[in-house]
Amino acid sequence: MNIARVDYDGLIPNNVALGQDVRVKRALEKWHPGYINWWHDMGPEGFQESLVYLRTAVSVDPKGWAKFDYVRMPEYRWGVLLAPQLEGRKISFGTHKGENAWQEVPGEYRAMLRRLVVIQGDTEPASVEQQRHLGKTAPSLYDMRNLFQVNVEEGRHLWAMVYLLQKYFGTDGREEAEALLQRRSGDPDTPRMLGAFNEKTPDWLSFFMFTYFTDRDGKMQLEALAQSGFDPLSRTCRFMLTEEAHHMFVGETGVTRIIQRTCEAMKQAGIDDPYDIAKVRKLGVIDLPTIQRKANFHFSLTLDLFGSEISTNAANAFHAGLKGRFREERLKDDHQLESGTYPVLRLIDGQIKNEDAPALSALNMRLRDDYVVDCNVGVGRWNKVISEIGIPFEIKLPHVAFHRHIGEFSNIHADVNGNVLSEEQWKKRRGEFLPSDDDRSFIESLMQPNFEVGKFAGWIAPPKVGIDNKPGDFEYVKIA
Ligand SMILES: [Fe+2]
Ligand SMILES: [Fe+2]
Repeated sequence: MNIARVDYDGLIPNNVALGQDVRVKRALEKWHPGYINWWHDMGPEGFQESLVYLRTAVSVDPKGWAKFDYVRMPEYRWGVLLAPQLEGRKISFGTHKGENAWQEVPGEYRAMLRRLVVIQGDTEPASVEQQRHLGKTAPSLYDMRNLFQVNVEEGRHLWAMVYLLQKYFGTDGREEAEALLQRRSGDPDTPRMLGAFNEKTPDWLSFFMFTYFTDRDGKMQLEALAQSGFDPLSRTCRFMLTEEAHHMFVGETGVTRIIQRTCEAMKQAGIDDPYDIAKVRKLGVIDLPTIQRKANFHFSLTLDLFGSEISTNAANAFHAGLKGRFREERLKDDHQLESGTYPVLRLIDGQIKNEDAPALSALNMRLRDDYVVDCNVGVGRWNKVISEIGIPFEIKLPHVAFHRHIGEFSNIHADVNGNVLSEEQWKKRRGEFLPSDDDRSFIESLMQPNFEVGKFAGWIAPPKVGIDNKPGDFEYVKIA
C-alpha cells in the first residue's frame, strides 16, 4: 500500500499529485475564492477570528493521520485526500463484478455517477449552514470546538466531492461545483437537495441528535459509495469515513452527557418519575420524554434520506457497480442480486406488512435496515446510563412508519409503535410523539453560552476525556 503523505506546499493540500495536474489544479484554485466566500457567509457565525484547537489531516494512514493545533477556521487547510489505492482492486458487485475497478468514469454511467457525487456533495455544506448559529450558545468551549471540528470537516467533504467533479466530469462537473456553493439550506428558492438538510438546527440537543442520526446516514451512504467500482470515488469515501467517525462520536456522547446530567439531577432531587416534567425542568435539565421526542423527530427525518423502499435508481446504481451495499465484501451471496428477494415493509390494504421484493429493487430498504441496527447500538448505551443511575425510562427508536415524508408510509400517519392512525387521531396525539413548541422553547431557554474555561452548562455533564487527551481546564477555543 502506498500511503501518500499530504502535500501542504500549495494552496490546496492534497495527496493526488495536484502539482502535476495543471488543469484540475487551476480549476480548483478558481473555485477556492468562492468557497472561502461561502465559508465567511455561511460558516460558523461570530467565531471566524477565534483560535480553535482543531485536527487537520496530515496523512491518510489510518494510524496517526491527524495533527492538532490552534487554527483560525478560515485558515483551515481544506484539502483533497484520498485513501491509498489498493493494488489490483476489482469491482466486487453488480454486472461488472470481477472486472478491474475503473480509474476513469465509464461513459455509459457518467450521468448516474455525477448525480451520486452531487447529492453526497450537497449534504456537506448544508450541515455547516444548518449549524452556523450554534457557536453563540455553546455549553462549553469543549463542545464549541467539537462543533467547529465537524464544520471544517464537512467543508473538507465538500472539497472531496468537488475534486471528483472537477477532475472527472468536465464542464458539467465545473457547473455542479459552482452550484454546490449557490444552494442554501432552508432557502425557499434555492434549497439544498434533501429534506433533512433544509431543517433548522436551532439548539444543541438538535445538534447532537443531528450528528448522531443524520451524520450516521452520511456514514451509511459513504460506506455504500466506498464500495464503488469507480475507484477514485471509493478512495475518497474511504478517507471521509475516518473523519465521519468523530461526528457520530460527538452526537452519541453529546446525547449521553445530556441524559447523564438529567438523571443525576433527578436522583439528587429525589425525583424518580421521569414523567414529572415540570419538576425535572425546574432543575434546569432536559426531561427524558423530551429527549425521546427529539430522537423520534431526527430519526424519522433521517429515514427519509434513504429514499423509497423500492427504487429503480438504487437498483441501477448497484447493477452498474457504482454504489454497493453496507459492507458488501462481508456479505455471503452472489453480489449481483439478479435473482433473490429481500423483505420490504410495505403498506398493503392499509396494513403495514412485510413483503418479499426483488433484492435488487430493495436496496434502499436494506441500507435503511442496516442503518437502524447501527442506530440502536448507541441507543443501548444511552439506556445503560439511565438504568445505572436508576431511573425507570428507556429510549426507543420509533417504528419506521412513523412521521415519514418519503416512501411507503408517506401518505399515512402512524404512531411510534407502527399503529396506523386516522388524521384526527394523529392531530390529537402528535404532541406525544414529536417536540411541541413548549418543548422547543424550554430547550431554547437553556441555551445560554458557557465560555468559561473548563466549565459546562448545567444541562450537560462534562465529557469523560478531553480531545487529544487534553486536561479538563484546556482552552479549546480562544475566543477573539
Ligand atoms: Fe460529511
Ligand atoms: Fe459528518
